[in-house]
Amino acid sequence: MASQAKPDLTRAAPAHGARHVAIIMDGNGRWAKKRLLPRIAGHRAGVEAVRRVARAAQEMGLECLTLYAFSSENWKRPASEVADLMGLLRRFIQADLDEFHANGVRLRVIGHYQALEPSLVELIESAMARTAGNSGPVIAIALNYGAQDEMVRAAQRIAQKVARGELAVQDIGVADIDSELDTSDLPPLDLMIRTSGEQRLSNFMLWQAAYAELYFTDMLWPDFDGRALAAALDAFRLRDRRFGGL
Ligand code: IPE
Ligand code: IPE
Ligand code: MG
Repeated sequence: MASQAKPDLTRAAPAHGARHVAIIMDGNGRWAKKRLLPRIAGHRAGVEAVRRVARAAQEMGLECLTLYAFSSENWKRPASEVADLMGLLRRFIQADLDEFHANGVRLRVIGHYQALEPSLVELIESAMARTAGNSGPVIAIALNYGAQDEMVRAAQRIAQKVARGELAVQDIGVADIDSELDTSDLPPLDLMIRTSGEQRLSNFMLWQAAYAELYFTDMLWPDFDGRALAAALDAFRLRDRRFGGL
């Protein structure tokens, strides 16, 4: 019997060595303001940057790209801006899902997205279900995401396990927390990028960033592209990651 060719799942390790990159996509409003445009124009241009960077991440061999699209604190913005952002998000998923699926991308959403409008929740869940069996990279969108909220939700689930007698308090370890976070099935975070010159994490992936490399650029998000991602990965390659060792 002829031996059946096995698919080759080993992807050549990319030279930059990063598996998982996360981006705080900041500066859409300032990009629009500089052009005397309404803030929504900046968000629209930001969606174009998402498309460019998602494609570049696939070409560069990343296993996972996580994008901070809407924080649990962004509800403080005017209702009209929140509605604009949700509308853009909905249209982005509707317009780009076929391409992601054709490229073998798995679309994931992290954050408490279940609190969004029911039709959007439905759209997100059907997009995730449709691409769940793909073997390509993960594009994870952080929506209604706050790291503190993520950790509170994880703590509640762990407390429930303790209450049910499935876990002893003294046995709770790092792996128990890891496995209850929204990112439990994603590779460890290697690089966190923030655009627009702000140097803070704004409640993004606080647990996962424990040993991630941080990269800040003054570039505003709508100007970000594959070259800018490559520059960040070049900088990452030169970092000496010691993880507390020597
Ligand atoms: C990032 O751009 C997009 C979101 C937070 C949704 P901003 O809207 O925060 O832009 P700036 O910071 O006001 O320039
Ligand atoms: C962080 O940007 C959230 C996202 C990029 C989605 P913000 O613009 O909300 O952060 P702050 O308010 O400047 O810290
Ligand atoms: Mg901002």
